[in-house]
Amino acid sequence: MNKELILILDFGGQYNQLIARRVRESNVYCEVMPYSIGLDKIKELSPAGIIFTGGPNSVYSEKAPVIDKELFELNIPILGICYGAQLMCHLLGGKVQKAEKREYGLAEITLFDSKLFEDIDKNTTCWMSHTDQIVKLPEGFEATASTKSCPVAAFGCKGKNLYGVQFHPEVNNTPFGKEMLKNFLYKVCRCGANWRMSDYAKSYIELAKEKIGDKKVLCALSGGVDSSVSAVLISKAVGRQLTCIFVDHGLMRKNEGDEIETYFSKNFDLNFIRVNAQDRFLNKLKNVTDPEKKRKIIGEEFIRVFEEEARKIGAVDFLVQGTIYPDIIESGLGDSALIKSHHNVGGLPEHLEFKEIIEPLRNLFKDEVRQLGLELGIPEKLVWRQPFPGPGLAVRVIGEITKEKLDILREADAIFREELENAGLHKTINQYFAIITDMRSVGVMGDERTYDYTIALRAVHTTDFMTADWSEIPYPVLHRVSNRIVNEVYGVNRIVYDITSKPPATIEWE
Ligand code: XMP
Repeated sequence: MNKELILILDFGGQYNQLIARRVRESNVYCEVMPYSIGLDKIKELSPAGIIFTGGPNSVYSEKAPVIDKELFELNIPILGICYGAQLMCHLLGGKVQKAEKREYGLAEITLFDSKLFEDIDKNTTCWMSHTDQIVKLPEGFEATASTKSCPVAAFGCKGKNLYGVQFHPEVNNTPFGKEMLKNFLYKVCRCGANWRMSDYAKSYIELAKEKIGDKKVLCALSGGVDSSVSAVLISKAVGRQLTCIFVDHGLMRKNEGDEIETYFSKNFDLNFIRVNAQDRFLNKLKNVTDPEKKRKIIGEEFIRVFEEEARKIGAVDFLVQGTIYPDIIESGLGDSALIKSHHNVGGLPEHLEFKEIIEPLRNLFKDEVRQLGLELGIPEKLVWRQPFPGPGLAVRVIGEITKEKLDILREADAIFREELENAGLHKTINQYFAIITDMRSVGVMGDERTYDYTIALRAVHTTDFMTADWSEIPYPVLHRVSNRIVNEVYGVNRIVYDITSKPPATIEWE
C-alpha cells in the first residue's frame, strides 16, 4: 500500500479539485484521476484510500459512469461523496431513487456514531446538492447521519472501511467538512500528515525534467505571481533550456520592470529577455480613449511582440503558462456578458507552433500557488503581489494614455501603496491602487492658481474579485496619502477616494 497516496476518482462533479485541495491542506498527497482508469491501474497505485467525487449523473442513467465492483473487495478504504456515495450504494445492492424534491443548499444534519464524525458536534449543518437519494442501504451498511428530507445523509460499513456522504464536506458551507475529511484520511486510511508544498515542487521538477528532456521551453513572464512561480519551477528543472520573455509595455508600476528583470536575471540560470516595447505601445495607444479599444490594442500588440521574439529563438517545443485552477473554472463559464475583455499572458496566439503547453499550476488555487512560491524561495514581495491587470496602468489612466499621465500615476500610486504598507493595511486590503482621471480642476498652491489632474484612490476588500467592498481606510492614513501626493507629485492638485462597491462599479476604472 502506498501510504502517501489518496486517489480521487473523478466522476465529473464540480468540486473535484476542491476535494484535492482539502486533502493537500491536510498534508496528505493526492492525485485526481478519471473514474475510468481501471482496476489494474488502481491496484498498481495501491493507494491508502480512495475518494469518489460527486457528478452530474444519476446511477440509473445510460451514461452513468461506473467502476468495477471488485474495487470494493481490495481492502482499500473508500469515501463516496454525493454521486460517489450513491454509486457505491447502488453497486453493492442498495437502492437509489429520485427524491421528491431536489435538495440544494444548507441543511441541518444529525450525525450518529461513525469514525468520520469523531470529535464533531452531532447537530450541525451541511451543504446539499442532489436530485437522487439513497433509500435502501446495502447489507452490512448503516446510516450514520440524517437530515429532515434525507434519511440517509451518510452511511458506513465499518468492517470494510467503506463510507459515503450525500452532502459535500469539501465546501466551506459544511462547517465541519474539513474535520470529516481529516477523520477519513487520518483515522480511516491511517495517513500521516507528512506531505508539504515543497514535495509538490520536488516531484513537479522531476516530472518536468523527464517531459522536457533536452528541448527548448518558452515562458511569457508578466512578473505576476502565477507566471513567476511557473517560470521558477521550470527553471529549476531545465535551467538554460528555458527562455523567459518579459514584454515591458511601459504600463508597469513604478520600478516594476527593473525589479522583475533584476530578480529573474540575477537569481536563476535561465535566459531572460526583456523587450522594451514602451514606445511601440504608446504609439499604438495614441488618441485612443475607449477602454475596450485600449484593451484590444494592448492584447494584440503583446501577441505581436511575443511572436517576434519567439521566432527569433526558433524551434521551441514547449510553452509554459501560469494558468491556475480558478482560471480554468472561470473560462468554462461561457455565456456571461462581456464586462471587460481580460487580457493576460495566457492569451497567446493559438497558431504559434508549440508541441505542447505546460501548465505547472493548473490544479492549484491561488493561495496554494503563493505557498509554493514561498517554498521555492521567491521573495515575499513578489509572492504577495496583488493582482495587476494584463493591460497594466492603461486601465487606470482615464482618457488618452500619455507618458506624462503615466508618470504622474506611477508616482501617486507608489505613494499610496507605500503609505498603506507602512500602516500595515496591505495585509487586509485585497487590492489598492491609484487612478489618474481625465479631469483637471482649479486649485491654489502657494499663491498660485493651478489647473491640474485629479487622482482617485481605490482600495477594496474582496475574496473572489467578482464582488468587492470599498475599504474603510482610517482618515489619518488618507490624510497622509493626500498630503504627500499633492506635495510630491507635480501635476496633481486634487485627491478623491472611490467609495463604490462592486457592483455597481468594477474594481478597475476601465
Ligand atoms: P474588475 O475591474 O473587472 O476586476 O472588477 C476584477 C479583477 O480582475 C483584474 N483585472 C484583470 N486581470 N487582465 C487581468 O489579468 C485584465 O485584463 C484585467 N482587468 C481587470 C482587476 O485588477 C481585479 O483584480
